[in-house]
Amino acid sequence: MTAAGRRRLPPHPDAGPVTAVGAQVTRNGLRILDLCCGAGGAAMGYWLAGFEVTGVDIAPQPRYPFPFVHADALTFPLDGFDAVHASPPCQVWTMAQRIRRNDHPDLIAPLRDRLATAGLPFVIENVPGAPLRDPLTLCGAMWAGLAVYRHREFEVSFPLTPPTHPAHRARLAKMGRPPRPGEFMHVVGNFSGAAQARQAMGIGWMTRDELREAIPPAYTRHVGHALAAHLTAAGGRSAVAG
Ligand SMILES: C[S@@+](CC[C@H](N)C(=O)[O-])C[C@H]1O[C@@H](n2cnc3c(N)ncnc32)[C@H](O)[C@@H]1O
Repeated sequence: MTAAGRRRLPPHPDAGPVTAVGAQVTRNGLRILDLCCGAGGAAMGYWLAGFEVTGVDIAPQPRYPFPFVHADALTFPLDGFDAVHASPPCQVWTMAQRIRRNDHPDLIAPLRDRLATAGLPFVIENVPGAPLRDPLTLCGAMWAGLAVYRHREFEVSFPLTPPTHPAHRARLAKMGRPPRPGEFMHVVGNFSGAAQARQAMGIGWMTRDELREAIPPAYTRHVGHALAAHLTAAGGRSAVAG
């Protein structure tokens, strides 16, 4: 590994308490493209795992903490990246949406086709109920310091072992009031307590609306370490750099 690869950086100034405190950020020389990036919850996890991150979203994202391109994920060029993460909109797969039968486009299938054709390692993240292939579930209870359960599913094209899934022992705060000490919270819909949600998710920089869409960076930090190991074993950029 190069000197740059060994370089340790301080935590990103925007990283939340769970993701930043004690995090040892070592750059790995790998570049990941973050499609449908929102305000960067997934992005921060990859950055903490050592990746350089570029985000793409169809909507402006003024608080995205890394280089950002305002563009369509279905056409943005994939050249120059070692791997791709995609978090397509999940509204189409949520229970409330199924009941209302509103019309949101499904981006999962076209994005999977693009990524598989490109031949790059990829991650597609979405809510339970979305049509992912053999997904793994990650839960906030897997990381000490988070206070959300927030199950999210990950379809990955490389080996990934999830942490042990502990029982949900903490009580969930009722919707409509901020959580009391020791309670976990839902960060969905018209939730109360944006400040508590930032702590609960380990995200220090997002607005209430952005938090509702985001995943805790701890999830993708875990995925990112497995992805970097896979790329290195496969002779990816970090291995070449060494
Ligand atoms: C669930 S949010 C992503 C949240 C993000 N992964 C995080 O952890 O903060 C989905 C995002 O997809 C974006 N989006 C929807 N259609 C898109 C498209 N065709 N191209 C790029 N982004 C798109 C939305 O604007 C939204 O920001």
